[in-house]
Amino acid sequence: MEQVKILLNDDEMPRQWYNLAADLPTPMLPPLGPDGQPVTPEKLAPVFPMNLIEQEVSTKRWIDIPDEILQMLALWRPSPLMRARNLEKALGTPARIYYKNEGVSPAGSHKPNTAVAQAWYNKQFGIERLTTETGAGQWGCALAFACSLIGLECKVFMVRISFDQKPFRKLMMGVWGANCIASPSDQTQAGRDILAKMPDTPGSLGMAISEAVEAAVSDSTGKTRYSLGSVLNHVLMHQTVIGLEARTQLKKAGEKQPDVVIGCAGGGSNFAGISFPFVSDKIAGAKIDIVAVEPESCPTLTRGPFVYDHGDVAAMTPLLPMYSLGHAFVPQPIHAGGLRYHGMAPLVSQAVVEGLITPKAYPQLKCYESAVLWARTEGFLPAPETSHAIAAAIDEARKAKETGEEKVILFCWSGHGLMDLAGYDKFFQGKLKDFSLPADELAASLQAVEKFPKAAIRKSGKW
Ligand SMILES: Cc1ncc(COP(=O)(O)O)c(C=O)c1O
Repeated sequence: MEQVKILLNDDEMPRQWYNLAADLPTPMLPPLGPDGQPVTPEKLAPVFPMNLIEQEVSTKRWIDIPDEILQMLALWRPSPLMRARNLEKALGTPARIYYKNEGVSPAGSHKPNTAVAQAWYNKQFGIERLTTETGAGQWGCALAFACSLIGLECKVFMVRISFDQKPFRKLMMGVWGANCIASPSDQTQAGRDILAKMPDTPGSLGMAISEAVEAAVSDSTGKTRYSLGSVLNHVLMHQTVIGLEARTQLKKAGEKQPDVVIGCAGGGSNFAGISFPFVSDKIAGAKIDIVAVEPESCPTLTRGPFVYDHGDVAAMTPLLPMYSLGHAFVPQPIHAGGLRYHGMAPLVSQAVVEGLITPKAYPQLKCYESAVLWARTEGFLPAPETSHAIAAAIDEARKAKETGEEKVILFCWSGHGLMDLAGYDKFFQGKLKDFSLPADELAASLQAVEKFPKAAIRKSGKW
């Protein structure tokens, strides 16, 4: 019988998270406050607990995972590494396609990897309530699940368009005891201001972040903090269990290393999770292509500049050094809600500046076609975000067929699409279309960042 699943025992889970900040050849630029000066940990204290802020600013290469977090992760980790043999046969490719199935978590995606860690650190710090935003609802579900496990209240601001497109995600959050409302809402000043200007807006992650941050910092008891499902250094670090497990599993499968590593990139967390351990190998000399895939309608890495910009619409977050389409950018209402974010994680952005990562943008329809081919060969039904990584993996496998190379392709299957069936239905009915961002719209959106300090492009020139 041909091996399909490469599994690890519970006790083979990584005991430490990997921090790419320790190994980047050029150091990261600091986040800046409203005065243009680097933000100190104390300034972030109303928003995040200090134990997570310490992780955020850490440049230590390895950070121990507390035993209680490992125990929670063991509910679904180590996740299986799977060989997509049926797809390989359907494509007739000599490539070997492996994927890390993160859809096996309780919430159905990679997001619980950081949700349980963040909820645990907040609880340790004496916090009683977390607020957050969610796009497609995967992150909201993940945090709702983690808060129920740990005993925290949870309030989720869900981007309006996804709230309407994916009503079952809200119901899932309710089962875990969380309160989920559509954003922009009338419950925060930021939400009311946005609604006054744009009553019919589909919402955006940038808007929902503004609301969730405001809801946390305005709690006078001091017992509420904000939790972010992507973008920040500590979030990306929590996700590196994906790539660390994959590295061990590939060895078990008899592979020396992958030739290509792929992840879809919204804020950058699942991409960082699968790729950062391999970015570290690349920095040490390995030859690996590392590909971040984003939607053509929200082309942050492929068309945005590397700038200082806010992470949210209401400019409540510090200025982050990142690729951005402008913090007020409202992407088209594509079904991959988790990829509708104007910015990109600073760690991913700096690795792109270095040339360690190649970004690619894919149109929505090609991604749905790939998702359907996947479901009809491999069976599992992917989330629309995940379909971007699948489309790129298929492209790589077809290239290998042309050249006859036995490439080893690894990608992150970031989540299942069982709550995203309305998107598939529209696709089959021919109601979905491709959106390419018009250049004048992008230029108008980027005007907002012109007044901010310039982000220096610093790179070693090695890649
Ligand atoms: C299944 C899935 N994949 C990918 C993403 C993109 O997020 P990130 O870039 O942080 O991994 C999301 C975000 O909601 C998601 O739900």
